[in-house]
Amino acid sequence: MKRFYLSLFMCLGLSGSLMAQTNEVLISTENTSLLLDAPMGGVPKIMYYGARINENEAKQIEENGLSYGKEAYPVFGINCVTEPALMVSHADGNMSLDMEITGIKEEKTNDATLYTITLKDKVYPFTVDLVYKAYDNSDVIELWSEIAHQEKKSVTLKQYASGYMPIRRGDVWMSHLHGDWAAEGEVTTEPVTPGMKIIKNKDGARNSHTDHAEIMFSLDGRPQENSGQVIGAALCWNGNYKLRVDTDNNRYHHFFAGINEEASDYKLEPKEIFVTPELAFTYSPEGLSGVSRNFHKWARNSKLYAGTKQRDILLNSWEGVYFDINEAGMDQMMEDIASMGGELFVMDDGWFGDKYPRKNDSSSLGDWMVDTEKLPNGVPGLVKTAQKHGIKFGIWIEPEMTNTVSELYEKYPDWIISQSNRPLAPGRGGTQLVLDVSNPKVQDFIFKVVDDLMTENPEIDYIKWDANMYIANYGSHYLTADKQSHLYVDYHKGLMDVMKRIRLKYPDLVIQACASGGGRANYGILPYFDEFWVSDNTDALQRVYMQWGTSYFFPAVAMGSHVSATKNHQTGRIMPLKFRFDVAMSGRLGMEIQPKDMTADEKEFARKAIASYKNIRPVVQQGDLYRLISPYDKKGVASLMYVSPDKDQAVFYAYKMEHFVNQVIPRFRMAGLNPDKQYRLTELNVEGEPIDLNGKVISGAVLMNEGIELPLRTEYASRVIELNSID
Ligand code: GLA
Repeated sequence: MKRFYLSLFMCLGLSGSLMAQTNEVLISTENTSLLLDAPMGGVPKIMYYGARINENEAKQIEENGLSYGKEAYPVFGINCVTEPALMVSHADGNMSLDMEITGIKEEKTNDATLYTITLKDKVYPFTVDLVYKAYDNSDVIELWSEIAHQEKKSVTLKQYASGYMPIRRGDVWMSHLHGDWAAEGEVTTEPVTPGMKIIKNKDGARNSHTDHAEIMFSLDGRPQENSGQVIGAALCWNGNYKLRVDTDNNRYHHFFAGINEEASDYKLEPKEIFVTPELAFTYSPEGLSGVSRNFHKWARNSKLYAGTKQRDILLNSWEGVYFDINEAGMDQMMEDIASMGGELFVMDDGWFGDKYPRKNDSSSLGDWMVDTEKLPNGVPGLVKTAQKHGIKFGIWIEPEMTNTVSELYEKYPDWIISQSNRPLAPGRGGTQLVLDVSNPKVQDFIFKVVDDLMTENPEIDYIKWDANMYIANYGSHYLTADKQSHLYVDYHKGLMDVMKRIRLKYPDLVIQACASGGGRANYGILPYFDEFWVSDNTDALQRVYMQWGTSYFFPAVAMGSHVSATKNHQTGRIMPLKFRFDVAMSGRLGMEIQPKDMTADEKEFARKAIASYKNIRPVVQQGDLYRLISPYDKKGVASLMYVSPDKDQAVFYAYKMEHFVNQVIPRFRMAGLNPDKQYRLTELNVEGEPIDLNGKVISGAVLMNEGIELPLRTEYASRVIELNSID
């Protein structure tokens, strides 16, 4: 049979057209390809995913029995005894699906090519569009499904994954993030073994404190940072998710990802379309770091809000004063950060509440009017103070939440997620509750919180948007009795709708996603947020581990990373200011400290470090990450570097993680440089003696092949080296 291949190259001229007779769909990015078999009247199959192939190689893979041949979107009911992607209950109670391809479409968007394969049930008026989006500027292919029907009554979606990927068995390992509050982003590495591994979240409101909706599969044995074939996947969803890795006795691991269907049966009305979240895949032959670089590039170019925009250096008031907000205190903090070279001040929690002023975490959420006892001149007064000091101003809000002690709660009890016939189980502060964001009135309220602040103070540059509670008291006063099971899903659809409105009106506002620290590090929310707060734990030593893990999937430009006090408020550890800066300067640098408590020497060190960060900021925030020595390997040190796309500038970091007498410190072999270029090494944040290599010129080849040795003689020693090509 003659086969027709669609490829990025061949089909640019055929945008939007229906490709009758097409069997194979070759979907390619610059360096990767996904090959589908999609015969009209048949079922779509995934044949290949990996390094980019051409039409001829696709044919060779197909014709020589090298392809996967796995159904691209397995549906339940006829011949599916393994895990399905989709399981529904039709209007008549029948639970089966039997889908066939009725159309294939290709269209070009401004940054990608979309391939849509339309499937229709052979008996029911029920359709699924499988959409594959291949990006022009990054090696990521997203896939998702769009489910619709024209049955007489609603169809219940019981399981509705975004997509599926077969992964050939061998010595496959998976790496994913695990953790908890103040310990987010811990790397977990394990071989994929027979049986089923489920990674999931059921928090309701936030989804990345414990486990993450992203994963990597190393195909050639134990994961390596800079070698080996790796497939990465990220589910772009802010709510409950489920990743399933099912390994049967055949030749494949079966990977599914989607919204967690537990307690979330979704009743789809006739003509309504249910769009599942994007599931992003990437592939790299350059190890875990290679996949990270692919995700970072995709994030910066296409996924993270304003991903290519430079981020400001800020001081956040939280660890400096906690709830003790007042005008004089804010003025002093602004003056201090301005004098150290900072660009932005963010006033955290504690500034609001009228009838119930916010003195601690037990009241006032929802009452977003300024506490005039603390701030007689309101937010406009603070904005003026910031202007006086020549810096920008930012403010904290937590608009999806309330407390039982608040005017909002008194006025709108039916806006709260709760059950009318049971006592409330409150969260933070013994009084916190979550608003029902599925309710359009609540969505309007949330929009208005931002809109009012911005209307009164158009100069506000930055909002820290917090979410400090999970969904308890499951129940919506807005959703009808038969759709109570929509709450987990509709909460996030509602939230995204609000974010879209906010972004339309305030495109330049910088917004941080915070959720008791790192509860919202995910690609569901980041299209609307510029960055996220990695963790409430600012202990620099533990941050090396957390930022290492978080960097598997998220770029430095999105990772809020702050210098805080010593002894550290979360761990009690005492660490040099240099180490704290050296760690924070590998992400989006900020400070979270009472500057008043710093000595003149410390302030001078901070001033110089901030000036240095401004020089390296483009490389850190927009460069390519090469993780070199993992803290998880327990070699006593950790090391990473960023390299500019043109490989002319790089920044290298080394941290002493353990300290013993007669310790053997490994050589630091760099990566990502141009072997043919000569680089001058300049040590940054020097304290005491600079390294012997300071000011020396060494070729990229020597730095990468031979590596360097560094003096890291004391506990919490660290080094940061800037590299500049002199060619
Ligand atoms: C959460 C955030 C912190 C801080 C507090 C304020 O815990 O993660 O950074 O904003 O709330 O209450």
